Amino acid sequence: MWSTQQLNEYQENGFLLMKGLLSPRETGALNEQVPALLNGNDEEDGMHRAREKSGAIRSVFLAHRHSPAFKELARHPKILGPVQQILKNDVYIWHSKINVKDAFEGAVWLWHQDYGYWIKDGVGPRLLSVMVFLDPSTLNNGCLMLASGSHRWGNLPHYSDTVTTGYNQWCVEIDSLKKMLREEMIHPITGNPGDVLFFDSNLLHGSGHNMSPLPRKSMILVYNDVDNKPRAVESPRPDWVVSRQYDVVK
Ligand code: SIN
Ligand code: MN
Repeated sequence: MWSTQQLNEYQENGFLLMKGLLSPRETGALNEQVPALLNGNDEEDGMHRAREKSGAIRSVFLAHRHSPAFKELARHPKILGPVQQILKNDVYIWHSKINVKDAFEGAVWLWHQDYGYWIKDGVGPRLLSVMVFLDPSTLNNGCLMLASGSHRWGNLPHYSDTVTTGYNQWCVEIDSLKKMLREEMIHPITGNPGDVLFFDSNLLHGSGHNMSPLPRKSMILVYNDVDNKPRAVESPRPDWVVSRQYDVVK
């Protein structure tokens, strides 16, 4: 459970980084599973893999359904407790993805708010992301960058970028970035395996290309308030990104 001070810090900045939340043993058990998850085949195991333009794996969706170690992670009291405190309700898993950010090949995530995607999926903003570091995250290997306090801007206009990376990304329009984002707001989130970052669905974030010989793998778990299930929308996105499994995490 978080203290009032931690909750206040989260509300104020839109994020909170918990250093060393998981033990080396816990992170080791997760990392042991990763090669098999990366090397599997979508048709055979039902997960979904997105690739960089180079062909390297960018993200593996749904590991929390298929790997017992990641399923356990999603209900870890040190993660689930604060998530329930923040959303003040029971939650289910909206989606999960292992972002690989491979050495030299892991490509940029342009500035976006996650709710810039999810607003189109027919939900309110009552979701939050939890990023579990599986590798060291450094300035060189494309650590996540956050714009502190940007969650209070509400949802900015996003456009669909289909050319920059191998993944169709919704990104904040440059005009909005020029108006809103000041250099001193940008926080590079460096850290170590076992560190865990909690962040708001309207927090502006992105990351640069991995220029280093070290990968920057992380697991992102997204939780949704059970009372915020998606309404019917035209062209709903697939279950690997907008889960139709609404089991309460406990
Ligand atoms: C994301 O925004 O989903 C991922 C960003 C990153 O892994 O750098
Ligand atoms: Mn994101």
